[in-house]
Amino acid sequence: MSEGRTPKGLFIETYGCQMNVYDSERMRDVLAPLGYAQVDKPDEADLVVLNTCHIREKATEKVYSEIGRLRAHKERRQAEGKGMTIAIAGCVAQAEGEEIIRRAPAVDLVVGPQAYHKLPELIARAARKTGERLAADFTAQEKFDALPARAPDGVTAFLSIQEGCDKFCTFCVVPYTRGAEYSRPLADVLAEARSLAERGVREITLLGQNVNAYHGDGGAGFAALLRDLAQIDGVERLRYTTSHPIEMTDELIALHGDEPKLMPYLHLPVQSGSDRILKAMNRKHDGAFYRAIVERLRAARPDIALSTDLIVGFPGETEKEFEATLQLVRDVGFASAYSFKYSARPGTPAAVMMGQVPEEEKAERLARLQRLLSEQQRAFNTSQVDGVLPVLVTGNGRRPGQKHGRSPYLQAVHFDDTRARPGDIVPVRILSASQNSLAGARLERMAELA
Ligand code: 5AD
Ligand code: SF4
Repeated sequence: MSEGRTPKGLFIETYGCQMNVYDSERMRDVLAPLGYAQVDKPDEADLVVLNTCHIREKATEKVYSEIGRLRAHKERRQAEGKGMTIAIAGCVAQAEGEEIIRRAPAVDLVVGPQAYHKLPELIARAARKTGERLAADFTAQEKFDALPARAPDGVTAFLSIQEGCDKFCTFCVVPYTRGAEYSRPLADVLAEARSLAERGVREITLLGQNVNAYHGDGGAGFAALLRDLAQIDGVERLRYTTSHPIEMTDELIALHGDEPKLMPYLHLPVQSGSDRILKAMNRKHDGAFYRAIVERLRAARPDIALSTDLIVGFPGETEKEFEATLQLVRDVGFASAYSFKYSARPGTPAAVMMGQVPEEEKAERLARLQRLLSEQQRAFNTSQVDGVLPVLVTGNGRRPGQKHGRSPYLQAVHFDDTRARPGDIVPVRILSASQNSLAGARLERMAELA
């Protein structure tokens, strides 16, 4: 909070992907100089921001029901002589901004994912009840240039390097909501990473809708960017998400073997195991191509683990084609995965394809797939027991003498240790595993790693 300003309550609710988590952090940074500080409940907030997701119908519907709930808080606050500004941000704002303004008078302003650096101006305008309520059409370049310095609040951080997508998978709204692919200049990304490292960040996750399609100025590709980032003192761990299989270049695969700062865990969406469905999805790869990449990654880095995204019930998907997805999952063996029922999105080619799969069928397939995936996740976590993992300490645990941290595989790890401080990377002997986390005890030295 800046000096001389009355503190104002800010409540940001984030839906959807990690890009939105990053954007919410950056909105907090933009709003801090105006005196906004996070509060725990929306009814304590002078400003509520819903950072929305448009990827599936369910996520979009949530926005309208949440606006209804917020309207009640707003009216209650107004009765007490206090105000509440309601802002809708993110991909629903981009895609349906005009409609939100029309349907929801309680909403004071709508701001698209490329325009949130304009929030202070929009809030001032909303307070005067004049002018536009909608800002949805600025460029990514303008946004990144206008954003203030980062204020990370931990030892891990997201860093957005690329936005938008030109791949046009037939089910997906992203090319329409986030627009054409844009990569930030290399120097800007490196400067932001250095600043994060100086502020104590040890693990950086690079973000982009097609992160490995990154192409910096001067022809620097994604692998070159990773190599440069790995040189920065203080940056101990690098990750990236989300990747497209066709952008897994030879250079990038080789780097997984050569660069120890690159974590042995990769999120690589496959969507389906059926070649016919992959073609209808316009994924530009088939099952064999995906399997070959996995094989090469494992050859380069034998301890690499994979996660993925899967869609069941794409239009025309037969039982046999669904079984091809189960087979691919069995063959690859994922450490974790996100799986979804296909959701028809207005304006996308798949929404008007023949053979939409009935809801019950989709639900039944999803349940079968998720059973298999959760067995694999449990098996993966259990396979760590009795082993030793380098754990990045993220904070103190619930009990004195207990710490929590993050494994190379993004697992939460709880362990006994009195000395470690956030940001340290310490060897932890894993003693037990559950579906979502690991528990263990710190070893004195890496030498005990045997
Ligand atoms: N229906 C279901 N899942 C979808 N995804 C994207 N669009 C849709 C849709 N229309 C999933 C994909 C993608 C992830 C972010 O969301 O699996 O990788
Ligand atoms: Fe959507 Fe496909 Fe682009 Fe991923 S690659 S954002 S699924 S269009």
